[in-house]
Amino acid sequence: MSVPDPRAADRATPPRKRLYIRTWGCQMNVYDSARMADVLAPLGYAPAEAPDGADMVVLNTCHIREKASEKLFSELGRLRPLKQAKEREGGRMILAVAGCVAQAEGAEIAARAPHVDLVLGPQTYHRLPELVARASRAAGAVIDTDFPADQKFDHLPEAAAPQGVTAFLTIQEGCDKFCSFCVVPYTRGAEYSRPAAAVLEEARRLVAQGAREVTLLGQNVNAWHGEGPDGRVWGLGRLIRELAGLDGLARIRYTTSHPRDMDDDLIAAHGEVPALMPFLHLPVQSGSDRMLAAMNRGHGAAEYLRIVDRLRAARPDLALSSDFIAGHPGETEADHVATLDLIRQVGFALAFSFKYSARPGTPASGAPFQVAERDRDRRLQEIQALLREQQAAFNRSRTGMQCDILFTGPGRHPGQVAGRSPWLQPVFAEGPTTLVGQVHRCTVTAAHPNSLAVQVDGSAIGPPDRNPEQEKAAA
Ligand code: 5AD
Ligand code: SF4
Repeated sequence: MSVPDPRAADRATPPRKRLYIRTWGCQMNVYDSARMADVLAPLGYAPAEAPDGADMVVLNTCHIREKASEKLFSELGRLRPLKQAKEREGGRMILAVAGCVAQAEGAEIAARAPHVDLVLGPQTYHRLPELVARASRAAGAVIDTDFPADQKFDHLPEAAAPQGVTAFLTIQEGCDKFCSFCVVPYTRGAEYSRPAAAVLEEARRLVAQGAREVTLLGQNVNAWHGEGPDGRVWGLGRLIRELAGLDGLARIRYTTSHPRDMDDDLIAAHGEVPALMPFLHLPVQSGSDRMLAAMNRGHGAAEYLRIVDRLRAARPDLALSSDFIAGHPGETEADHVATLDLIRQVGFALAFSFKYSARPGTPASGAPFQVAERDRDRRLQEIQALLREQQAAFNRSRTGMQCDILFTGPGRHPGQVAGRSPWLQPVFAEGPTTLVGQVHRCTVTAAHPNSLAVQVDGSAIGPPDRNPEQEKAAA
């Protein structure tokens, strides 16, 4: 029989409150959402799977392309009855809008959706505890869309919920490039790099928590530069070499890069650091010099192709991914054909393509010669058809190949495990979940449009691994 522990009252934790976070957009938002959960954990907030009955709901928004605010307002409409239901039960649901739509349209959100309690931009997540306290007292919405001088990274808590076998690590934020079409410089602010020591410390922590692969994140990640422990200014190549020395870290990736910031050392690192995976997302947006100039990209098509050649010379098995925009203002049929030509010349393993959408406040949105919707649609379809073909061909080209697979979790079907190829392809294999957290030499037995089937050939490669699945079972 258990006896009540008289010291229990001293150790009492705050009552558990339920926190639901919905995330739209890029991996940086996924990382930010996790950090918001970390900041709120000491206040007693624990993650919930659904918004029903939650004590706090955070909508972490993305503003990069069309319909961002419509999506937000329809979600806010769905949440209103849940918030009212909570109030009828005598509770309170704090409703917060975060992310880039909050940054861009803070006042409008508060005016159009009076049931929103808190609006906060991406630079002020470290102030969440204080903002939540203020929102609990205030009648209207509390809005914080500052670009504060104190960096949020200096104030975020060290204790973070483990991310698992593959982890994200934001090393850089913001953008000074001002591409004609893009809202990021306005919503995320100026380029900022975290110091090398802070990045290395967080990476060590992630590895200690079971991460075998770390993806370094930044809106302009290869613009990263920071003071190294040796007092010199490091670039991303140097940082990657240092990270590669961390015991237990098997794989390093980084995203998203700008061609203008692919410096010599970073290109060399692709050839010299085996842990740096042979896959690079390097957006080009267009294959036409005229359009690249109109977009303010700061390079031409030939320069992009030269960078690709140098990367492939450094690392012959490097696969490339990119972003394309169809129908930027002023784009002619000849410009579009130039994009298709560039895609054929490079041969992408994966790529993302978008129909141009005018974003308020960006230079392109006010430009004359907007391309007709039907031309934008058709050009997008042509780009996507070609990219789909290239992706399928790339996946097929892996058939029969031996490669190292990092297993990341259970597969969709019983008896299966899921993982990732070096080229970021989702992979599945027959095998026990004890493989999770390990890298194994495998043979690709079948290629599908979006994934590979593999067979495990060898025992684990690399240092003895922690197995998060086993640890979960043991706990
Ligand atoms: N319209 C269409 N696509 C855009 N992107 C950014 N802004 C826009 C826009 N206004 C795309 C770019 C970028 C990716 C993240 O989103 O291709 O690289
Ligand atoms: Fe946007 Fe261009 Fe900056 Fe990328 S480099 S975030 S597309 S402004």
